[in-house]
Amino acid sequence: MRLLITGGAGFIGSNFVRYMFDKYPDCKITTLDKLTYAGNLDNLHDIEKNPNYRFVKGDICDDKIVNKVMIDVDYVIHFAAETHVDRSIKNAENFVDTNVRGTYVLLDSARKNDIKRFVHISTDEVYGNVGSGYSKETDVLAPRNPYAATKAGSELLVNSFFNTHDLPVIITRSSNNFGPYQHPEKLIPLFVTNLMEDKGVPLYGDGLNLRDWIYVKDNCEAIDFIMSNGMGGETYNIGGGNEKRNIDVARIILKEFGKDENCIQYVKDRLGHDRRYAMGCKKIKKLGWKHSFKFEEALKETIEWYKENRSWWKKLK
Ligand SMILES: NC(=O)c1ccc[n+]([C@@H]2O[C@H](COP(=O)([O-])OP(=O)(O)OC[C@H]3O[C@@H](n4cnc5c(N)ncnc54)[C@H](O)[C@@H]3O)[C@@H](O)[C@H]2O)c1
Repeated sequence: MRLLITGGAGFIGSNFVRYMFDKYPDCKITTLDKLTYAGNLDNLHDIEKNPNYRFVKGDICDDKIVNKVMIDVDYVIHFAAETHVDRSIKNAENFVDTNVRGTYVLLDSARKNDIKRFVHISTDEVYGNVGSGYSKETDVLAPRNPYAATKAGSELLVNSFFNTHDLPVIITRSSNNFGPYQHPEKLIPLFVTNLMEDKGVPLYGDGLNLRDWIYVKDNCEAIDFIMSNGMGGETYNIGGGNEKRNIDVARIILKEFGKDENCIQYVKDRLGHDRRYAMGCKKIKKLGWKHSFKFEEALKETIEWYKENRSWWKKLK
């Protein structure tokens, strides 16, 4: 099995590379990553000497590099993206370039190279705010921030290549991931590392926004499962079954550190902050996948990881 993994030096991508080598030691993996502020070769330090592994520094918008790395590939797993909503609110240009144009360049190269499967990694944010109930894969996309809009745009391109060019694509939409190697700008690692530095935890608005959380190892397993069991042209929600208000996530983390709510600093709400994302996951469950990790245990494991890898995140903060 020969894989091209875009964004493999990022959070989920690097966990996925590690997951695949653990499960399929003979697979061959090329990672294509631009190494933006979010890409970090330290994430793959234990893998870089594996003879079945190759790292290529490059931009997915660069068709010359993309065409080079697409040769002799069976599967493309496309993680590379600009991912931080707050950054997209300040300036979304990179988001449009990488998330939309970059996805197009990859799709176009994949169709010319007879790729067996193109797995596009998307997000629950494409559904927009979910007042009640749960989003289904067939719901209309209604993204409400620039990051989510570019992810929705990329999905439309992916599906167009299935319909127009018979490219065997699959889309996964996962909820909020957490786990090792997540950049400390994101909520859980930000709270954890702030507490380790004796700082407070900044909570947007009233802290009542609801998100579903999935442990990154569960998401990696689900993506691998979908690569083999999913149907071309289909989209699969991947949720963790852990819907929590941000304030409750903060409280759980504070408890782990033996600290109280005085450490919470309420900050001005994010512009256009969606109140709730929530997905129904019947489709993937019907195929036979279910998550393995419990939220509280996975969170404890994650906190331990940040405690043991202080030098990893110190450089990034
Ligand atoms: N983290 C989450 O909670 C979450 C949830 C749902 C979906 N997703 C999706 O999963 C994917 C991975 O997310 P993540 O949290 O690991 O992101 P991340 O920000 O940690 O990593 C993104 C990676 O992409 C690379 N990259 C960015 N622009 C590039 C370009 N033009 N060319 C090549 N590489 C480039 C970066 O260097 C980095 O290594 C994204 O597509 C994201 O939309 C993430």
